[in-house]
Amino acid sequence: MGRTGNTNLSFDDILKRNFPIITDEYKAFAEEKSQCRKCSVYEHYKTVGMSEGNAKNPIFIFIGECPGRDEVGQVRPFIGPAGQRLRAELRKYPKVFRKDSVLLTNVLACRPLNNKFPGGDFKTETSKEVRTCTTHWLIPELKILKPKVIVTLGNPAMKYLRGDWGITANRGKWKFLPQCRAWSLPTFHPSYVIRSERSGQNHIVHQFEQDIETVVRMWKSIVGGDYRMSMSEDEWQRELALRHSVQLGLIK
Ligand code: URA
Repeated sequence: MGRTGNTNLSFDDILKRNFPIITDEYKAFAEEKSQCRKCSVYEHYKTVGMSEGNAKNPIFIFIGECPGRDEVGQVRPFIGPAGQRLRAELRKYPKVFRKDSVLLTNVLACRPLNNKFPGGDFKTETSKEVRTCTTHWLIPELKILKPKVIVTLGNPAMKYLRGDWGITANRGKWKFLPQCRAWSLPTFHPSYVIRSERSGQNHIVHQFEQDIETVVRMWKSIVGGDYRMSMSEDEWQRELALRHSVQLGLIK
């Protein structure tokens, strides 16, 4: 079993605290994830971060970059200053963002040394560490939980999930993600929102608030208006296979 930060809680207690709703499948996934030693990022703080929220069928998944100091200490995502800023925004819409509708997670499960995202220029390369972590944990997590809406926070999460770069140009733009069968919307990372608040860049704060409001206002019509979102798993797999054959030029 992995270390549980500085909490003195057992792994089971952490699961109980972080996940008001959880399946056996997710429990097994979380336990395996907590034991991950697949890359060197773990070595710095020796705690694998955990997600928080509905671990059965969340409507919304918010994806940040990586746990910070507070998050590895408590083994909870988004509880430091950036997390408090995000949570304050979500609390404005208590009917939409609830414990049973949201899951918070990160691209990287472990905290990199001094929060420095591994891999140099994230714009042009995806580091070995990010590839390893997302292949083993983030993508399987999305596949197990099947959210309808994924909100990416900041450039790295947007780049990794949508292939886009440039948060200012892309924020607030909906895009369907076939690999997750979910709609995504990128917005600023809450730590950038905090820095903008401090430096008087009120338009950034306003745009972040607008993006969250866009999710609230539009998610039902975006998801409900898309036939792919209501297909059965079998129908969806057939649709994916068809797309793949078209991409390969096997059929027109
Ligand atoms: N920043 C992130 O990207 N994720 C967290 O969990 C906390 C801060």
